[in-house]
Amino acid sequence: MTPFVADPVYLNGQFLPLAEAGISPLDRGFLYGDGVYEVIPVYSRQPFRIDEHLQRLAATLAGIRLANPLALGDWKAVVEKLIAAAPWEDQSIYLQVTRGADDKRDHAFPPASVAPTSVAFASPLVTTPADVRASGVAALTVPDLRWARCDLKVISLLANVLARQQAVDSGCAEALLIRDGFLKEGAASNIFVVKDGVVLAPPKTQQMLPGITYDVILELAEQHGQALAVREISERELRAADEVWMTSSTKEILAITTLDGAPVGTGRPGPLGEQMWQWYQDFKNTVMRKG
Ligand code: PDD
Repeated sequence: MTPFVADPVYLNGQFLPLAEAGISPLDRGFLYGDGVYEVIPVYSRQPFRIDEHLQRLAATLAGIRLANPLALGDWKAVVEKLIAAAPWEDQSIYLQVTRGADDKRDHAFPPASVAPTSVAFASPLVTTPADVRASGVAALTVPDLRWARCDLKVISLLANVLARQQAVDSGCAEALLIRDGFLKEGAASNIFVVKDGVVLAPPKTQQMLPGITYDVILELAEQHGQALAVREISERELRAADEVWMTSSTKEILAITTLDGAPVGTGRPGPLGEQMWQWYQDFKNTVMRKG
């Protein structure tokens, strides 16, 4: 095993060492990025919102017209086995399904006899260090050059990869994607904005991934009576925000305190982001942590 991926990994019904998990160069995931994926956080060896993650996997598979290779219960059994075998209490489970490997290269779907390729593995959950959380992170805005079905969690992520690298090259943690003058999301996160005590969230459209963390935040806001508006956020509003947060299964809730080199609000993580982070921790600890 590597320090970042536990043995065994899951490949097409088998559990085997990573070093022995081979995939054909003709796999359509490799040739075309023709596949889907999920990332499920695990706390105290319990998968967080696994039903929701597996539902999103099923929705994305349906969206690309690929039959789900496993029933819900079978996916859960795979995830449970990986979690039990991995050495870490807190993990991140990666699942991927591609349209498999035919005996030739052809854009159109392969015959039904070609089985999908299913892969899953466990990694340690990499959390944000306390000092980074305390200062917040820098972000960059970039044009959203992705395709028109960003609601599908597909593995063809080149535009996201290039956007994130552009951010990293400028010393930033995330790239915020702007389409037609509106904020959509981050390269690998959803984005929330706070203005005058109201949390603003971009709506779920085909131009944004419906984040599992995003849903939890909406639920927590409602539960705690926090003012919230789900609506399009213009680039101008983004730049005038009091607070900006990025959210994802691995980042949880992280304040963006610098945008394109200018401070967001006071330039420090704001009170609503701190409050939401605390509600998120309380919720997570209530439903997940043992003892
Ligand atoms: N990314 N938007 C995009 C484009 C993402 O890639 C992600 C997550 C999210 C947040 O979704 P969730 O809250 O369900 O993690 C939003 C994962 C973590 C990744 O690609 O590694």
